[in-house]
Amino acid sequence: MRGQLIGLNPMYFYKVGLGVSESNRQAIYSAICSLVDKEAEGFDPFTDTAWLGDIDSSGDFHTIPEMRPLLERLPFALGEYFKALGVNAEKFQAYISRCWPAYQTVGQKINLHRHMQSNISGVYYVDVPPESGEFAFYFYDVACEFIPGLFSSDAHAKKGLLNSWNLMRATEVPLVMETDQLILFPSKTLHRVHPSKNYDRPRISIAFDINVTLRSSDKQEAGMPPLDKWQGIDVLTNPS
Ligand SMILES: [Fe+2]
Repeated sequence: MRGQLIGLNPMYFYKVGLGVSESNRQAIYSAICSLVDKEAEGFDPFTDTAWLGDIDSSGDFHTIPEMRPLLERLPFALGEYFKALGVNAEKFQAYISRCWPAYQTVGQKINLHRHMQSNISGVYYVDVPPESGEFAFYFYDVACEFIPGLFSSDAHAKKGLLNSWNLMRATEVPLVMETDQLILFPSKTLHRVHPSKNYDRPRISIAFDINVTLRSSDKQEAGMPPLDKWQGIDVLTNPS
């Protein structure tokens, strides 16, 4: 090849082995199993969608004491992500706005979605048994797709229009995650988890939504102002 193929502006996500101890992870595991047992009423065990703590319970799993060893490791991970992207961490304050476990048994998946209400999303893997479902990022609009649908349709590939799967133009990128890994990615990125094929153990993870504000909004337009500058509006107030 005499020419050069040059990639521009791809999506970057962050991945790290978080180093939560086995005993601390076991405590989190037990807390999740207890929560799933407690909230099991009303949940259809034969559904093909995983049990998701935000919609099947509540989104404040970060507030339980068992989560502390994990949460203590989040600042360095977020700091590394900011630094790698060239974002000045001194200008921003991050908050966990929602946190929930996902409990996925054989045949269950997590459908394609994104977290529109937050800025950065994360997943921590408490236990990932073999073949328990790949996490996949999905891109509707691949910038170099010069014929609409050429890269995204399996039918085109089967008819020989593509030579091979290629990461640099993939519409879906499946990733095998490992126990104790944390990933961080822009919340707007579409993602899903493929069905688990593991009959023995559930795939257990914890999702985070992180909102980022400016530390000071003076002379800044991008990003939300600090929370102490916000003022509530009681929409139930009805002046007569
Ligand atoms: Fe998600």
